[in-house]
Order: sequence, then C-alpha cells, then structure tokens
Amino acid sequence: MQLILQDMDYYQLLFASGAVLLAIYYYHTSIYSYWKNRGIVGPRPHPFFGNFWEIINRKYAVATAMKNWYHEFKREPVFGIYEGRTPLLVINDLELVKDVLIRDFSLFIDRGFPLFDKIEPLTQHLFFLESERWKPLRQKLSPIFTSGKLKEMFPLIVECAGNLEKFLDKVADNGEPVECREVAAKFTTDVIGSCAFGISMKALEDEDSEFRKMGRQVLTLNFRQLTRDACRQFAPSLYKVIGKYLHSPVADNFFIDLVRDTMKYREQNNVTRPDIINMLMELKKHPDKVDNIELTDTLLTAQAFIFFLAGFETSSSTMAHALYELAQHQDIQDKLRREIRDTYKKNGETMTYADIKEMKYLDKVFKETLRKYPVLTMLTRQAMENYTFKGTKITIPKGMRIWVPVYGIQTDPDIYPEPEKFDPERFEDDAVAARHPMSFLPFGDGPRNCIGARFAHIQTKIGLTTILRNHKVDVCEKTMIPYEADERAFLLTLKGGVNLNITKVQS
Ligand code: HEM
Repeated sequence: MQLILQDMDYYQLLFASGAVLLAIYYYHTSIYSYWKNRGIVGPRPHPFFGNFWEIINRKYAVATAMKNWYHEFKREPVFGIYEGRTPLLVINDLELVKDVLIRDFSLFIDRGFPLFDKIEPLTQHLFFLESERWKPLRQKLSPIFTSGKLKEMFPLIVECAGNLEKFLDKVADNGEPVECREVAAKFTTDVIGSCAFGISMKALEDEDSEFRKMGRQVLTLNFRQLTRDACRQFAPSLYKVIGKYLHSPVADNFFIDLVRDTMKYREQNNVTRPDIINMLMELKKHPDKVDNIELTDTLLTAQAFIFFLAGFETSSSTMAHALYELAQHQDIQDKLRREIRDTYKKNGETMTYADIKEMKYLDKVFKETLRKYPVLTMLTRQAMENYTFKGTKITIPKGMRIWVPVYGIQTDPDIYPEPEKFDPERFEDDAVAARHPMSFLPFGDGPRNCIGARFAHIQTKIGLTTILRNHKVDVCEKTMIPYEADERAFLLTLKGGVNLNITKVQS
C-alpha cells in the first residue's frame, strides 16, 4: 500500500512539474503570435528570449542582427521582433521614419529605456530620461555646443592634438602594430576632459590615467556586466531586487566625487569656464528656471557623465573606423593627406576652426565612415499614445518601442550601391541631394538627435588631421579583414581592435 502511495506521489509530482513547465512555456511563448495576428512579418522568435537568443549567447552582435533583419525584410514598410516577451516594431519606410523622428515627434519623445535610479544613479541622463525631465534639461543644455562655444573650445582641442602628435612620434616606426581605437580613445578622453570638465585627464601621457581606466571600466563588458545587462533587459522586475549586486558603483562614485569637487573648487576660487560644469553650476544656482523638476546633485552629475561617455567613445570609434578604411585605401588616404597639408600650408602651418569646417574631402571621408560604420546602429523611440502610421493600417499601442534600423538603411544597396565599398564621393552635394534625408542617420534626427554632433565633427576631424598629416597608416597581419563586429559590444566595434602599422611620412 505504502509503495502505491509513493508511486502516486511520484507520478503526481511529475505531472505537476510538467504542468508548471508547460504553463511557464506557454506564458513565455503565447505572445509570439502578436505580430502574425496583425499581419506583420518578422524573424522567428526563440522561446523565452524572443529574437535575442543569438545576441545573448554571443553568436553575433546586435548590430549584425539588425543589419541582417533589415536586409531580409526591407521590402516591408515595417517588421516586428520580440525583445524577450516584448513586441518591438522596426520601421524600414523612410517616410514613416521621418514621421516618428520629426513630424510626429511629440508622440515619440521618449526612448523607452527603463530607469533604475536607485541602483544606477548616473543613468538619469539625457539619453535615458523620460520626457518630463528630458525636455527642460535638453533645452538648458543645448547651448553648450553653439558655434561660439565651439570656437572657444577649439584651442583646447588643438592643445590635446599636440599631445597626440607627441604620442604618435613615440609609437610610430617601431615595427609593432598600434591599436588605433585605444589611441583615439586616449585623445578623445583628453579632449572631453578639457572641454567639458576643465580638467587635464592625461590619458595620452599617463598609461594609468584614472579617466581612461574609468572609461574602460564602464564600457568593457565582463561576465558580471553582461549578466547585469541581460537581467536589466529581460527581467526588469528581478533587476530592481538584485541589481545592486550586479552593478558596480566604482565608476558612479568616481564621477559623483569628481563633479562635486570640481564645482566646489570653482565656487571657492571664482573660476568660470565655457564648459558643461559651468552650465550645470548655473542650473543649480537658478533651479526655478528649469520648470518643476528637482535638480539633485546626482541628476546634474548624470548629465556630466553622459557627456563624458558619449563624448569620448563614439568619436574615438569613428576615428578608428576611418583609419581602418584609409589603411585599406591608400589612394583615399593620400588625397586626404594632400588636403590636410595644403590647408596647413595656406595658414602658416596652423589649423583654425574655419579651416576644419571648410575641408571638403575630410568631411566626405568622415561621413562615409559614419555611413559604413554608424556607431549607434539603431535609433529608439517609444509611442506616447496609440498611433496609426500614416497611409497604413498599422496601429501600435501606447508604450510600444520602435527601432529605426540605421545600420541596415545605410548599407542598403538600393540606397547606396555597392555598400561594402568605401567611397567618400557618395557625399558629393548632388548625390546627397538625390537621396532621402532619412537615409543617413548616424546622429539621429529631430529634436532628440545627438546633442554633441557638432562637437563630434570637430574633435574627430582634428584627431584625424593630426594623425594623417605626418603619419601613414597601413594594414598589418593583425588587422581584422573582413570586418567582424564585436558581439560583446553595444556600439558598433571591430572585434579585436583596429590594429594598424603607423609610420612617419616626410613632408
Ligand atoms: C561620432 C560621434 C557621435 C555619434 C556617431 C553620436 C551618435 C548619437 C546618436 C545616434 C544619438 C541618438 C540620436 C537619436 O535618437 O535621434 C546620440 C544621442 C546623444 N549623444 Fe551623441 N554621438 C556622437 C558624439 C557625441 C558627443 C561628442 C556627445 C557629447 C559631448 C554626445 C552626446 C549625446 C547625448 C547627450 C545624446 C542624447 C541626446 C538626447 O536624448 O537628448 N554624442 N548620439
């Protein structure tokens, strides 16, 4: 009798476990008919992880996935994917993209990233903030990069370029490949330190520069950070509970102390500089001018933090991608070097703010680099209300997130013939005018575009002119060709770094 009971317990247990597993499976997969039921196509999702399984298990980068999906579904105006259990709409049609980014912006202000203020205090920055806090802050911070302010910052950038030149002289001609992304990151760390914080970060001079270390720490994804990101993305409710064990506060504390000490020093010594710290101090002094949002020290520090992070990483990646292509196209590199040298010669061996803006070929190389390698491979927005796309029957509910597949669009052969070819002439004025304005979006568009785009132009271009004026970059055995995106990185990044030979060229 006891044996029968035990057997029954065993079978009941087995049955109950099966039912629970089935319920969990059903809960996680039932949503996957969402797009099909609405007549919208898309890639097949995996149970639990939706279309992100290959990205989570590092088979390929989110950039590569996005590009491949776009190419598969580009004949459709939109397609649907699933981020875990959450349906997401990707927009291919460029007129619909324009509606979302510009014409109907008031209905798509937010990016829709969940904020975890208590666990990660410095994520309350412009990029992540919801519309209530974003609007007044963006309005107040926008004047930081006017032409006038950029002109004032120009000598500071040139000073950092002087240090870059010295650094290059040390590493050139020694027969060892140079990891150009790291060199570029040291340069942009110095520039952003000087222009945004009024601090000499010494990343080029000092191998142990604290700022470079912090930059690396925030962006290098080790196992703990990968787990944190996956938990944040796929289990936000769980992240609220265990996030504090996954997120390291070291970089947060470093920046909070840095901004507090810098502000204190300036207040005590009456120092005024045309930079972001100054602007944040002004906001703090006149909080009544910033609508009714609470201007805590952490909120202000978070803005300085995003300027540091977005300021150094995106431009250094762009510099490295440009060098990667120029090393493979010596004719383009020579032509660019001639333009750089002619410009220097014309001005008695100096470079002014106006010159950088007037260098036409440099501008084309810069844009073609960002076409082929948009650092941010997609743009994100969230519907603030139920919305029906114009000229279609596609309606999305309030709260749904939308992606614009920038990397896919910019490598579409119907828009850019032979997209794998690096061809700066694509940015000849007539060719640009013939294309749809939404076919080139490396800085996004509309009121929530990149606030630092003008600054990025200047710092990236000065970095490139400094490197190429007297140095030549070449591919070497360590250069990764063809290009393979790093599957661990959120931004578009070459796997293994941009390793090139650098040699000095005589004038
Ligand atoms: C080549 C360099 C850069 C690229 C490719 C780039 C790209 C982008 C893109 C695509 C966006 C999103 C735009 C959208 O959603 O429409 C963005 C936003 C942003 N970028 Fe940049 N960026 C660069 C440099 C910079 C620099 C130098 C700074 C600051 C010093 C900066 C600060 C920001 C901030 C704060 C945002 C959020 C803006 C907002 O939501 O209001 N970026 N950037």
